[in-house]
Amino acid sequence: MPHLQSRSLRVYADYFEYLDQTQLPQTEQWVRCDSPEGWQAAVKNLAIRGAPLIGLSAAFVLAQYAARHPKICWQDVSDRLRATRPTAVNLMYCLDAMEACFEQGAGALAERAAALFAEDRALCKRMAERGADLLKTGDRVLTHCNTGALATAGVGTAIGALAVAKQRGVDLHVYVDETRPLLQGGRLTAWEMADLGIPYQLITDSMAASLMALGKVDKVMVGADRICANGDFANKVGTYMLAVVAHYHQVPFYVVAPYTTVDPACATGADIPIEQRDGAEIRGVSGAFGEVVWAPSDSPVWNPAFDVTPASLVTAWILDTGVFDAAAIARGEHCQGRA
Ligand code: MRU
Repeated sequence: MPHLQSRSLRVYADYFEYLDQTQLPQTEQWVRCDSPEGWQAAVKNLAIRGAPLIGLSAAFVLAQYAARHPKICWQDVSDRLRATRPTAVNLMYCLDAMEACFEQGAGALAERAAALFAEDRALCKRMAERGADLLKTGDRVLTHCNTGALATAGVGTAIGALAVAKQRGVDLHVYVDETRPLLQGGRLTAWEMADLGIPYQLITDSMAASLMALGKVDKVMVGADRICANGDFANKVGTYMLAVVAHYHQVPFYVVAPYTTVDPACATGADIPIEQRDGAEIRGVSGAFGEVVWAPSDSPVWNPAFDVTPASLVTAWILDTGVFDAAAIARGEHCQGRA
């Protein structure tokens, strides 16, 4: 029996298993991870993904590896983990927390990792409840990427709000952006909506504007990978385009995230490191459905994994610590709890 478990993680004493998100929704395949190299490969190819889950799984792999290799330089391992995906600050939050325990040994590291897992579960619950407070029966909500139980230790961030609303008997209709290039919406969010019993329709990312022009979207709710001191935030590429379109059509645009996604050291979005990914992801698709290449195999590609949405396009930032408007963000209230 795992001693800790979420929708996408099963933690045992010396190793953990992750639900391989590249295989969903076709196959639910659990894969063992017991080394930093194994973790890096899984995170790089998005078998493990979503800002909170990346950080939590890093904490477990570090704690478990340290227990087996007491003489290694844990700092080197931590540095390697940090470099794997640079944009989501939750990874840095979790590794900072682990590094603070290095001197106390393997037992303290294991306890710290378990505490981070429990914390994320609690943060999910709090932000999801705050997000659900803003939803009412009949709302048609558009979301992007995947922000549910798969991406966290708990109920999720933006999808968490939808799930809690559903539990409260609020009837929603959700539009799921497919989320090119890696289809987190089409593969993972559609699967989670069905699992939660929330009525939804899948759209390609380029359909969101006409959907809003037709007056069919009441709210947009997305997650975040890093929120700056001024409220600018990074999220899955395509989020910025959605925010521009929502602003034009006067559709409220909400960001749902835990305080662990806030990075007060980033003054503005220009300071966020944006991960660039392999061109093959744009030239075609690969994964559980096989490999299809449609572009010329040598097509030059620009493939940023995330984009930055300026604070001016956000209606409110829904964190576990509160719901913040632009004035509260300008006062730095969302940075509460972060060093
Ligand atoms: O590249 P991914 O799939 O890890 O990107 C995930 C997102 O952009 C999510 O919206 C973000 O991590 C917040 S979710 C809890």
